Amino acid sequence: MNEEKYSKLIGKLKKRLDEERFYHTLGVSYTSAALAMKYGFDVDKARLAGLLHDCAKQYSAKELFDLCKKNGLEITKIESEYPSLLHSKYGAFMAEHEFGTCDIEILNAIKYHTTGRPGMSLLEKIVFVADYIEPTRTVLPKLSEIRKISFEDIDKAVIMELEMTIEHLKRKNPDGIDPLSIETLSYYKEVH
Ligand SMILES: [Fe+2]
Ligand SMILES: [Fe+2]
Repeated sequence: MNEEKYSKLIGKLKKRLDEERFYHTLGVSYTSAALAMKYGFDVDKARLAGLLHDCAKQYSAKELFDLCKKNGLEITKIESEYPSLLHSKYGAFMAEHEFGTCDIEILNAIKYHTTGRPGMSLLEKIVFVADYIEPTRTVLPKLSEIRKISFEDIDKAVIMELEMTIEHLKRKNPDGIDPLSIETLSYYKEVH
């Protein structure tokens, strides 16, 4: 992707996302690029995936539910109860149909950036971890520790991020835990 295309995309996202989400998006893009450098992945592809990961975040839960229905996307039980989870799935759909990305690796990195999934590709792990550690994040549990580990052992960072997120939901909203996150955590604990 050339610089002109990259800045055009940034311009489009700036119009759609609120300010905080926009800067988070840039942070995930830069951080995904940095992790790609560390782990020997295509840097350009990683920054594009990071840039698009929250492209559907401006929609309300109700809008996401309706948009997924309208476009024939499958909605799981937990997603119908907590439709804001659908910003990942619908984001992948938008990345393909609105932003013209047909790279399946990028689309999956967007689709699974909230829950993770067992057997993630390197790009999926990069975006998953970058979403947690990017520079505008300030108050997440074990943030500085996870930031450091992300550049040493990405699978370990995936485990820690899932543990922190699940822990947090267990306290605040146990019903809102996506079973796919639990499945992902046990998978990575087993293979690590
Ligand atoms: Fe997200
Ligand atoms: Fe995000």
